[in-house]
Amino acid sequence: MIDVNISQNSVPKHLGIIMDGNGRWAQKHGKSRIEGHNQGVETVKKIVVAAKHMGIKYLSLYAFSEENWKRPEFEVKGLMELLKTFLEADLHMFHDNKVKLEMIGNKEKIPFFARKVLEHSIQKTKNYDEMTLILALSYGGRDELKRAFEHMAKDLLDQRMSISDINEKCISKYLDTKDYPDPDLIIRSSGEFRSSNFLPWQSVYSEYYVTDVLWPDFSENDLRAALTHYQNRERRFGKTSEQLQARTTS
Ligand code: FPP
Repeated sequence: MIDVNISQNSVPKHLGIIMDGNGRWAQKHGKSRIEGHNQGVETVKKIVVAAKHMGIKYLSLYAFSEENWKRPEFEVKGLMELLKTFLEADLHMFHDNKVKLEMIGNKEKIPFFARKVLEHSIQKTKNYDEMTLILALSYGGRDELKRAFEHMAKDLLDQRMSISDINEKCISKYLDTKDYPDPDLIIRSSGEFRSSNFLPWQSVYSEYYVTDVLWPDFSENDLRAALTHYQNRERRFGKTSEQLQARTTS
């Protein structure tokens, strides 16, 4: 079932979301930060289904950054437990909607109790093709580049490639996102104009949409507003408006 309120002509193929504001939402409601993250998971569930109905093929959610390991231990543990509970209790959502789960980031750093469930969920959903949900977990764009450079240096030393092979396409193949198109649109909730180390290589031509809405309050209508905004943008990729017009009329 496709959302009829969204024109299917220029739906972003890949949407990234920087989910921000769980802590502020919790404070506003006199609740603990973990309760804020809990409410954030409720939004995740709604938005995954809505995004699929709007025709998005790849949805990347910034769920835990490399820098988030520096948060207080109880919050880090709470977030990892939340990841596990979400995947255990809501795996049916992936099955019901034929959504494939994948992840980007430094998987080895995720505690075993959560990693085990994550790997199981990835395995169980690997044949679905309606939408891919990419969780960015223990993810940092600079860390991703560092790991890519290490891998590439090893391939150079072992003579699996040569320096003349290095170009933008080749670099992209060393990134965690090698199987996905670059994000067309990145939404950030809670009003901060920052990219916070989210997909720096991949987002050079992404459109950004920042809303003041805190992530736990982010609704299907907010997603629709972001997509409508995107559909009214002219993406020039370094060219002029005239060049683009000429291409569409020829
Ligand atoms: C930012 O809010 C959000 C995060 C650090 C993590 C996002 C996590 C979730 C939505 C829940 C976990 C998701 C899954 C898929 C299990 P913040 O705490 O930085 O908010 P603040 O800036 O208002 O303090």
